[in-house]
Amino acid sequence: EKGGYPSFMAKEIHDQPQAIADTLLGRVDAGGRLQLDEMKIGEAELRSIDKIVVVACGTAAYAGQVAKYAIEHWCRVPVEVELAHEFRYRDPVVSERTLVVAISQSGETMDTIMAVRHAREQGAKVLAICNTNGSTIPRESDAVLYTHAGPEIAVASTKAFLAQITACYLLGLFLAQLRGNKFADEVAEVLAQLHEIPGQVRQVLDGLEQVREIARYMADTRSVLFLGRHVGYPVAMEGALKLKELAYIHAEGFAAGELKHGPIALVEPGQPVFVVVPSPRGRDSLHSKVVSNIQEVRARGARTLVIAEQGDTAVEPFADVVIRIPRTSTLLSPLLAVVPLQVFACELATAKGLDVDQPRNLAKSVTVE
Ligand code: BG6
Repeated sequence: EKGGYPSFMAKEIHDQPQAIADTLLGRVDAGGRLQLDEMKIGEAELRSIDKIVVVACGTAAYAGQVAKYAIEHWCRVPVEVELAHEFRYRDPVVSERTLVVAISQSGETMDTIMAVRHAREQGAKVLAICNTNGSTIPRESDAVLYTHAGPEIAVASTKAFLAQITACYLLGLFLAQLRGNKFADEVAEVLAQLHEIPGQVRQVLDGLEQVREIARYMADTRSVLFLGRHVGYPVAMEGALKLKELAYIHAEGFAAGELKHGPIALVEPGQPVFVVVPSPRGRDSLHSKVVSNIQEVRARGARTLVIAEQGDTAVEPFADVVIRIPRTSTLLSPLLAVVPLQVFACELATAKGLDVDQPRNLAKSVTVE
């Protein structure tokens, strides 16, 4: 069942190229246009949406955070991302023109179910992004976009996460195409890049021997920090979550820009800090800002483990370790950048002799509030 891998998690990490490819499969027509047949919310309604609210828990909520950057950029619709249990018990502003997107691997997370019910009571349309056919969340939603990651057995989510991000991109591109905004012409180009991603994830996976070795040496580590900016921020949060869940190591993900406003006080000599670096080919000065952040923590003695695009030499003087990912557009880069962090957590937990598939105190699907 584990396909020769030591754990379901290791297998699921290696299944990720397939999970992405299967989530893309059959959703683009011969003319390069996106077709989401399961999108049962009418086109007129989708055109009139003035806000998207993503509700989810855990890893699925980080997929939502990635979605925010992409969908706002492509569709110029405001996207809020909220933990489902927080959304449910305040007084959120939603209306008939709000599209609530509920992301859940299992479709049975009670916190997310309650948020879906609450949203529908307020008149919002709900779209589920879900990995489990016929589960409660899609059944209670107006429409569903299934991720096709296949069954995920390990408690901590990996391949479902990448499939959720992929589905969110499809949603964003679909809305851009439908609403015919100025980005609509670029949809085909982004779809083409998205189809390159499974092969690129495979390349990342094939090049991680160094990460595995480092993880094995770090079994005694007490604390690890993760920094990222823009879409690298949710990647940093997810990297930290994986390490907490699997290896029981205190870990925190920060927005790199926030460093000087507090977290840098934590940095002392020897502190491991992962930094997710945006593409140097991207917009603005995002890349140079993050390179400065690496310098800042390095100057205080941090051990810097840097995830950077192939060919990005600017990081080299300040990195103790450089982990390379292939080139893609900034918005799609989380699908590549998170993979080394998953492998790091899985390997480190295994080196500590822990059960990576069934971490203590956690359940695969939490069916109580
Ligand atoms: C947690 C799981 O309890 O629920 C996480 O341990 C998961 O791995 C989260 O991300 C949300 O689950 P789901 O099924 O709603 O995506």
